[in-house]
Amino acid sequence: MNQKTLLELVKKHGSPLFVVDHAELRKNYALFRKHFPRVQIYYAVKVNSDPAIVKTFYDLGGSFDVASIQEFRTVYEYIAKLPAKARQDFIWDKIIYANPIKPVETLEELDRYKPLVTYDNHEEVKKIAKHAPHAGLALRIRVPNTGSMVELSSKFGALPGEAVDLIKYAHDHGLVVEGLSFHVGSQCTNPQNYIQAIHLCANIFAEAKSRGFTLKLLDIGGGFPAAYDATVPKFSALAKQINQEIDRLFPKEIEILAEPGRFLVASAGTAVCKIIGKAFRNDKLGYYVDDGVYHTYSGVIFDHCTYHLKSFKKGTPQLCAVFGPTCDALDTISLSEQLPDLQIGEYLYSENIGAYSAASSTHFNGFPPATVVHVNR
Ligand SMILES: Cc1ncc(COP(=O)(O)O)c(C=O)c1O
Repeated sequence: MNQKTLLELVKKHGSPLFVVDHAELRKNYALFRKHFPRVQIYYAVKVNSDPAIVKTFYDLGGSFDVASIQEFRTVYEYIAKLPAKARQDFIWDKIIYANPIKPVETLEELDRYKPLVTYDNHEEVKKIAKHAPHAGLALRIRVPNTGSMVELSSKFGALPGEAVDLIKYAHDHGLVVEGLSFHVGSQCTNPQNYIQAIHLCANIFAEAKSRGFTLKLLDIGGGFPAAYDATVPKFSALAKQINQEIDRLFPKEIEILAEPGRFLVASAGTAVCKIIGKAFRNDKLGYYVDDGVYHTYSGVIFDHCTYHLKSFKKGTPQLCAVFGPTCDALDTISLSEQLPDLQIGEYLYSENIGAYSAASSTHFNGFPPATVVHVNR
């Protein structure tokens, strides 16, 4: 998004501002589609559950990964008016409830929709059999998350060695396991994570078949990296490696799903904030801005992500710190930005901040989340 447009928007709507560019969402979706022609794209709603973003992917024919009943309801809004059969087909074909742990109340609400849900342990099987017996299952497998920016394998995934026993356990409880899912960790720049996960799953498919269970789908999860900087491998090269392994190990009739989040949304979000204070501290210029880590920059904490701040004005760059507006020292966006000498009331902005940012913004210290503006809808 060019600087002139950003400045016009912040002057019109006020600061802090979170701008979502829907042309960029469509571009990212098309890129994913192009490089993964065999894969059904389930947008991971948690990355940014703004209904306008969900609508753009819905209009593109997208499918959805939801991980809470609230996210399910957000997607359901768009299909509520479909005839009953079309609505049910949409839920079965285009929604996966991809949180392996589900509250009983959620299962009870979901059951009437006969959803596809993930699981990774025995207790969950018992819960699903009791509270959502009409659900189809995908078994989440623990796979290497080596080098990924956000690690997920310490919390989720059955060990490959226990997979077929867990499939049998679900079967013994009257449930059908449709296939397997995994997640290589978010912002995965190590293709080997995908390759190893696909191998592990191919072995489980074979072992399951030998024990009488035919699996029909493989969900390769999220993790596809956003191009935050030049060190991130090219998406086309990563996709090529993944596709080769899928095609080699999984016959055409096996459905392949993916749950990209960050890749689709990161580059579509830009944050604009205003300088509200300025001080020299520790021999360094510090800018205090009206957005911070309790707000749009929450990814600094939760997503282990760093965002650079840019100035709308040219000038000799100097080492600066940038702090958020709250009375907490944790609210530090960066201790090493290169920014010119700017005045209170001037603006800064960060690009590629669409994923896991506004989604985890709070009202801490009385400061509300940034105003959201959608462009190119
Ligand atoms: C089950 C599941 N699927 C998909 C995603 C989206 O991952 P990403 O944003 O790395 O594509 C996540 C993120 O945590 C997840 O937990």
